[in-house]
Amino acid sequence: MASILPLTPANITEAAKALKAGELVAFPTETVYGLGADATNDRAVAAIYAAKGRPQFNPLIVHVPDTEAARHLVDLQPVTERLAGRFWPGALSLVAPRRTGSGLSLLVSAGLDTVAIRVPAPEGARSLLRAAGIPVAAPSANVSGRISPTTAQHVAIELGDHVAIILDGGPCAIGLESTVVDSTSVPPTLLRGGGVTTEEIELFLGLSLMIAGNDDDAPKSPGMLTSHYAPDRLLRMNVVKASPGEALLGFGPAPDATINLSVTGNLNEAAANLFASLRLLDALPWTGIAVMPIPETGLGRAINDRLRRAAAPRG
Ligand code: TXA
Ligand code: MG
Repeated sequence: MASILPLTPANITEAAKALKAGELVAFPTETVYGLGADATNDRAVAAIYAAKGRPQFNPLIVHVPDTEAARHLVDLQPVTERLAGRFWPGALSLVAPRRTGSGLSLLVSAGLDTVAIRVPAPEGARSLLRAAGIPVAAPSANVSGRISPTTAQHVAIELGDHVAIILDGGPCAIGLESTVVDSTSVPPTLLRGGGVTTEEIELFLGLSLMIAGNDDDAPKSPGMLTSHYAPDRLLRMNVVKASPGEALLGFGPAPDATINLSVTGNLNEAAANLFASLRLLDALPWTGIAVMPIPETGLGRAINDRLRRAAAPRG
């Protein structure tokens, strides 16, 4: 069973040692908790897939402490450099061509010639990456297809048996995964909406991103299978009044809400509360989860994306 350790310098050193020894370490980022392993070690990376029950065709995001470290692993073309300069450290993963001699395990890219890479924002995460001195592959620390973890306890419940150490940095500030942008296309392609909004990226680049199609047979971002983030309970979106027995997940003023994502209708607050609220409701004997309408702007787009996948027919 994993030890849950507070994010202190001594525990960061301990966790960095475990990573270098090929063990799995869960750690907090500003988006969600990651299930980390040495990205240059085939066995360690294979252990991530095994622990999550993740399909082998779904590649992993590599985490580095700064842009310089990223340049050793992938070719950062001009547009990628611009995006990295503006949004790193932060909730943006950039897909770029893998460098020959990067040393990364081929399992990280699941057969693609690109790698998704990001520099997480919290100082704790970056000091772990600096102390380890290796690129760290880290998907969200949940069982494949389930709700992403935003606390150390979420990780312990689902993956505690598979992980050496869980660093506990409290709840994640953003609460939704990073935005994934493929910068090898012109214009760049949005593969997954997330913590950095599409609007911010488009405003900064002065262009519209291509949006990846949602094709389960040939997914551009292989992780974006339709059913995902799935609670056990069936979920319905855009509901104003729950049916008898159904929990109501509120947004904005809602006296009848079982839990409210944000009483004031604040999308940042709603994103931060989303996954923990779904987990809470899922643990109780409701017949289903009804979610009130959430505006399709800013972080609302990423929230609705996750809810659509949670509501999708299970395959
Ligand atoms: O916020 C996050 O991104 C978290 C934290 C831990 O950093 N990580 C995360 O990883 O959400 P994961 O594995 O749950 O999602 C990674 C997504 C998947 O949709 C995957 O298919 C996509 O990134 N991806 C990874 N490498 C890719 C590549 N080379 N080309 C296209 N998509 C890629
Ligand atoms: Mg995930």
